[in-house]
Amino acid sequence: MSPFSFVTFLLGLSLATAINLSDLTTVYEWPEKIEYDWPSETFKTKVFQDTSFELNGIHPRFMAVSPERIFLSLAGYRGLPASLVSIPTNSTSSLPPSLAPYPSWEMHRKEICGTIQSASGLEVDKMGRLWVLDNGSKKCNAKIWIFDLANSDKIQNVHEFSFRLGLHDLVLDETPDEWFAYITRFEKGHIVIFSLKTNKSWLLDTPGKSFLCLALSPKQETRMLYLGRLESNELYAISVREIRDRKRTAHPKLIGKWNQAPYRMLMDSAGVMQAAFFQKKYTSTWNTSLPFAEQPFIEVETLDSRWPFSFASGTSRNLWITAFNWNAKPKYRLLKAGPGLRSYLYDASKFDCLEGCHKEHGYCSRPGECLCKVGWKGNYCDECHPYPGCVNGTCNKPWECNCEASWEGMLCDKILCSETCNLEHGSCVAIGECLCKTGWKGKNCDECQPYPGCTNGTCSQPWQCNCAAGYHGKLCDLEDE
Ligand SMILES: *[C@@H]1O[C@H](CO)[C@@H](O)[C@H](O)[C@H]1NC(C)=O
Ligand SMILES: *[C@@H]1O[C@H](CO)[C@@H](O)[C@H](O)[C@H]1NC(C)=O
Ligand SMILES: *[C@@H]1O[C@H](CO)[C@@H](O)[C@H](O)[C@H]1NC(C)=O
Ligand SMILES: *[C@@H]1O[C@H](CO)[C@@H](O)[C@H](O)[C@H]1NC(C)=O
Ligand SMILES: *[C@@H]1O[C@H](CO)[C@@H](O)[C@H](O)[C@H]1NC(C)=O
Ligand SMILES: *[C@@H]1O[C@H](CO)[C@@H](O)[C@H](O)[C@H]1NC(C)=O
Ligand SMILES: *[C@@H]1O[C@H](CO)[C@@H](O)[C@H](O)[C@H]1NC(C)=O
Repeated sequence: MSPFSFVTFLLGLSLATAINLSDLTTVYEWPEKIEYDWPSETFKTKVFQDTSFELNGIHPRFMAVSPERIFLSLAGYRGLPASLVSIPTNSTSSLPPSLAPYPSWEMHRKEICGTIQSASGLEVDKMGRLWVLDNGSKKCNAKIWIFDLANSDKIQNVHEFSFRLGLHDLVLDETPDEWFAYITRFEKGHIVIFSLKTNKSWLLDTPGKSFLCLALSPKQETRMLYLGRLESNELYAISVREIRDRKRTAHPKLIGKWNQAPYRMLMDSAGVMQAAFFQKKYTSTWNTSLPFAEQPFIEVETLDSRWPFSFASGTSRNLWITAFNWNAKPKYRLLKAGPGLRSYLYDASKFDCLEGCHKEHGYCSRPGECLCKVGWKGNYCDECHPYPGCVNGTCNKPWECNCEASWEGMLCDKILCSETCNLEHGSCVAIGECLCKTGWKGKNCDECQPYPGCTNGTCSQPWQCNCAAGYHGKLCDLEDE
């Protein structure tokens, strides 16, 4: 592994608050070639015999990450046996990994329209699904493929468009009950919208303008779709409300100009956008909460390829970057920067709360905060709210009022006396204290009060004086003869 000397910090780290650049690490390096994970020598030989494919020509285009895998769509100037591949995010081997066609070799067959023809933009959503744009081919229409990563990479949906070619990149917009994909298609003067719920797609015309790359603002704001114009440094924006409303024409507004024409943009969960530019050895950022201002971000030593970088972020706090250099060694690098922020698909708030803040009962709108959902309280939102008015009770779930010892009632506001207190002849005034009605006495108010002055008599009801054997008289004070 080479030292990390290729990283140049153009500006103070304060600008790069989303990522600590000193944490940029090389995950893998491929000095000259990148190899496929060929199923057999025979297969490999056949590919080289039957096609003009050259390993030399491969370069990464788009990238998406899941916790276990990196997905790359590839371009190759002499064709490719598979345009979508995966590599592990970490590996125990000292050799760089080979490219495993995704989901299998079987799913990459030329002009077989039930297979992937030419993968382009990729995205992994928070449900663990991989969305793949497929440019199509001579015979096959363009498609959007959705794979279930947690479920043996099963195809969850495949939507076929009525056209071929031109698909570039996509972003995913999650609403309370829908998932939309917004897709750029170059040179066409429209963007393509796909609704997963209805499994339908339509075109949103953008008269006079074609867009190449795109980025979506994070969930917590009024969502904006940012669009980089084709072969231009102009950056446009449009509110997603217009798109979700299924309008057919839109007029995105010019909001700024990069120094160069970008081919790829990416947003993080705090609204900081990153962009990479054709044939430029750096990426730039813009904090979308502020007026447009381009800040240099990462610079990698001379990169002369047209499309030097790709980047992706997902649920982990890492930003993954591929750097590609035609004429240098290493030719390919996979770099990782972090810890930073998650992608725009994730709620920044959900993950940056006060440490210890309860994962289900707490939330936050800024880092370090811990706000409680209804029914919960405490610094970490891990204490339930008892039923309102509950006096001497506790809860395990919100709105319970489970009485502590000696208390009872809906609100646990009634004292439970000793169990032996006779409630017919007495009542509870304090814990264990039994207050007797007139005519009764004793700890439990179960002894009657005899007639005052009764000497040698007893009672079974108040004020009686039933004489003991050998006595008589009203007060049983007279001895029998
Ligand atoms: C980046 O990380 C290094 C080492 O982990 C640390 O010393 C430095 O303060 C960090 N810089 C920022 C801006 O967080
Ligand atoms: C690779 O990363 C995954 C996810 O972060 C982790 O679960 C796994 O233990 C790691 N494997 C190795 C060999 O480091
Ligand atoms: C979605 O539409 C495609 C045609 O574009 C069809 O092949 C597929 O079965 C549909 N998916 C679902 C889940 O209905
Ligand atoms: C998709 O199609 C266009 C032609 O319309 C082409 O320029 C572009 O390179 C293709 N992208 C991929 C990834 O095949
Ligand atoms: C972006 O700008 C806003 C508004 O000034 C600021 O609060 C926020 O911290 C900035 N974000 C980053 C990552 O610099
Ligand atoms: C019961 O509630 C009263 C009034 O709130 C309080 O003074 C008393 O200490 C409580 N007793 C116990 C055992 O919690
Ligand atoms: C009767 O009452 C007197 C005075 O209270 C007492 O001294 C005496 O023991 C009593 N006799 C009996 C048999 O209870």
